[in-house]
Amino acid sequence: MSSETATPQEQTPDGVRALEFFSGLGGLHYGLEFAVPDACVVAAFDINEHANKCYLHNFGLKPIYTGIEYLDHKAIDKFRANCWLMSPPCQPYTRGGKELDDKDARAEGLLHLVKLLGQVTNVPRYIFVENVPNFETSRSRELLVEKLDELNYEIHEFLVSPLQVGVPNDRKRYYLTARLRPEGVRDPCDPSYLDSATVHSVPWLSPPSTRFPQPRPIADYLEDLAVGDQTYDVPEKFITKRHKFRFDVVKPDSTSGSCFTKAYGSHHVIGSGSFLQTRNFHKQYQADDQSALLTLGLRFFSPTEVARLHAFPITGEAELHNRDGSPRASRHAFTFPDSISMAQRWRLLGNSLNCRVVGVLMRDVLFRPT
Ligand SMILES: C[S@@+](CC[C@H](N)C(=O)[O-])C[C@H]1O[C@@H](n2cnc3c(N)ncnc32)[C@H](O)[C@@H]1O
Repeated sequence: MSSETATPQEQTPDGVRALEFFSGLGGLHYGLEFAVPDACVVAAFDINEHANKCYLHNFGLKPIYTGIEYLDHKAIDKFRANCWLMSPPCQPYTRGGKELDDKDARAEGLLHLVKLLGQVTNVPRYIFVENVPNFETSRSRELLVEKLDELNYEIHEFLVSPLQVGVPNDRKRYYLTARLRPEGVRDPCDPSYLDSATVHSVPWLSPPSTRFPQPRPIADYLEDLAVGDQTYDVPEKFITKRHKFRFDVVKPDSTSGSCFTKAYGSHHVIGSGSFLQTRNFHKQYQADDQSALLTLGLRFFSPTEVARLHAFPITGEAELHNRDGSPRASRHAFTFPDSISMAQRWRLLGNSLNCRVVGVLMRDVLFRPT
């Protein structure tokens, strides 16, 4: 499945015109630009005004502020798009969200798009979906895959962590790629997509991989903060009111950190993402030893650092690489507009995704040369 030997010309399918549903900060847009440098996102859709401000700021495209469940097929057809990108809300499939699956109102947007797939005239040739682990066993996934199978798409599903593509952040996510087969073509050897156990392992992403180096140390992702800058310090009370809880503390030389959630930076410190240790690196500590914890100079990762760990192309950085390994600048650099507060930045990033994982799967599977 890997397209290691492809020439750059083969790599780029002609004229990818994408719609980005649930666009947020545009993580799928950045992934698409990684895979197909001249692809164009012709419309984005989201109901979060802060996210939409960021999207406009970075891409010069104003997302359509509307609930996706209210779109009809005409509203979609007018964009003459051949690619749909979707990262719908994950709460219907998480324990915290009560796992209501297709009965959760937050699944409505996705299920509506599944219905529209059968109604639009411009049926997309390419589809990419991102969600949390657990989605693969959901009724929502079943409804999606049933529709894709009926319309004759070739489907692949994955669970991948950024650690597998050399990024020191563990954020395992579910991904689906679907490519429309030419009319009349159906592979009789295809797996039954309707089985639940179809999530592929990704052989070329499994360590040890020669294509992807081991994750770089976290130090490579850190901002150069001025000495004494306390902006991101973890307030003492966040630590002292938790008893016997082992925080996820990482050092600059660590090569893995935990998943950042939308609660990162707030007082919901349990399981919301790693703290960075900035002092006393020789010190060992116990989970209930709060006084020792207080000497480690714990701080939050700044929004810029989280964005880097999610492989967003921060201004001036060449996060992308051509097939031959040479660096390539992103078409659209990523920054936050000044009006977005720090809490909002962390929240938006916690909802977003790893652009490098998306880019690799798009390049090697969705848009692989035929
Ligand atoms: C999991 S996040 C996707 C984040 C995005 N991929 C990124 O890179 O930031 C889901 C997004 O869907 C938006 N959303 C949720 N329900 C929606 C709906 N019914 N219609 C439109 N957007 C919706 C949320 O505001 C949120 O930005």
